[in-house]
Amino acid sequence: MTDNQQSQLEAQSVTLGYGGHIVTCRDLTLAIPPGSFTVVVGPNACGKSTLLRAMARLLVPNEGQVVLNGQDINRLKTRDVARRLGLLPQTSTAPEGISVAELVVRGRYPHQSFLRQWSAADEEAVRSAIAATNIADFSDRPVDTLSGGQRQRAWVAMALAQETPILLLDEPTTFLDIAHQIDLMDLLERLNRQGRTIVAVLHDLNQAARYASHLVAMKDGKVIAEGHPGDVVTQEMVKAIFDITCVVIDDPVTGLPMVVPAKNAHAEP
Ligand SMILES: Nc1ncnc2c1ncn2[C@@H]1O[C@H](COP(=O)(O)OP(=O)(O)OP(=O)(O)O)[C@@H](O)[C@H]1O
Ligand SMILES: [Mg+2]
Repeated sequence: MTDNQQSQLEAQSVTLGYGGHIVTCRDLTLAIPPGSFTVVVGPNACGKSTLLRAMARLLVPNEGQVVLNGQDINRLKTRDVARRLGLLPQTSTAPEGISVAELVVRGRYPHQSFLRQWSAADEEAVRSAIAATNIADFSDRPVDTLSGGQRQRAWVAMALAQETPILLLDEPTTFLDIAHQIDLMDLLERLNRQGRTIVAVLHDLNQAARYASHLVAMKDGKVIAEGHPGDVVTQEMVKAIFDITCVVIDDPVTGLPMVVPAKNAHAEP
C-alpha cells in the first residue's frame, strides 16, 4: 500500500513533559522501523502515552524533535500530519450524541477540502473500516450508549478510516474480551502486512511478543531494550522493567517467548 519512504517516524533526543516542570522522558531516541509492527511495553506512568502523543504531534517536545519522513513534525501542516499518521489515544470522548457511523466518517476529514468533497474513496474507507471492526450492527447508535468494548472498536474504526501509512494505537485492546482482542491484533497484523507501519502500546507481554516485529521496552521515560521479541523478552528484561520474577518459555502455539510470572512474583528476590 505504501512504500517505506512514507512511514519514517523517529523521536530524536526528545525531552517530554507537562507544564514546563514535569519531565516524563529525557533525551529519548526511538526510530520506528518503517513497515514494522512495533509494540511498546512498560510499567504504568513510564511515559508510553506521552511518547505516542509527541510522535503524533499532540505534544511539543521541550528539547529534541520528532521527525516524520525527514521533516520536523512540528513544522508540518496539521492536515499533512493527519494524512500520514493516525493516533488512537488511550482515552477519547466522542462529542455528545454522535453516532458510530458519524464518528468513523470524521476519520475522513483530513482527506477533504473545499475543492475535494466527499468521494467514493471516502465512502469505501468508511465501509471497509466498519466491516473490519465488525461494528455494522450498532453503527447507527450514539457512541455514548455503547459498552466499553463496542466503543473501543468504534474508535479503532475511526482510526482505520483515516487510511494513514502510520497508525499509532495506545492500548487498543484494554476493553476487549479475548476473542475481540485476537480479532483486533490479527487485523493490525494484516494491515501491517499490507504495508502500514503499526505502533501499539500493549500491557499484555505475551500478545506483544506474538505480534511485534519490533518490541520496545520502556521504564522511567527511557527505552531500556528494543529489538525482535525473541531477543528482547527474557527473564532479566521482565525483572528490570517490571521488577517481577518469571519464567520465559516457548509459546506452544508460535514458538515465541512466553512470560509466565511466578506467584508472589513481586516479592521474590
Ligand atoms: N496531562 C498531564 N499533566 C501532567 N502530568 C501528566 C499528564 N499526562 C501524564 N502525566 C504524567 O506523566 C507521566 C507519564 O504518563 P503517561 O501517560 O505517559 O504514562 P504511561 O506509560 O502511558 O502509563 P499507563 O500505562 O498508565 O497508561 C506520569 O507520571 C503521569 O502522571
Ligand atoms: Mg498510557
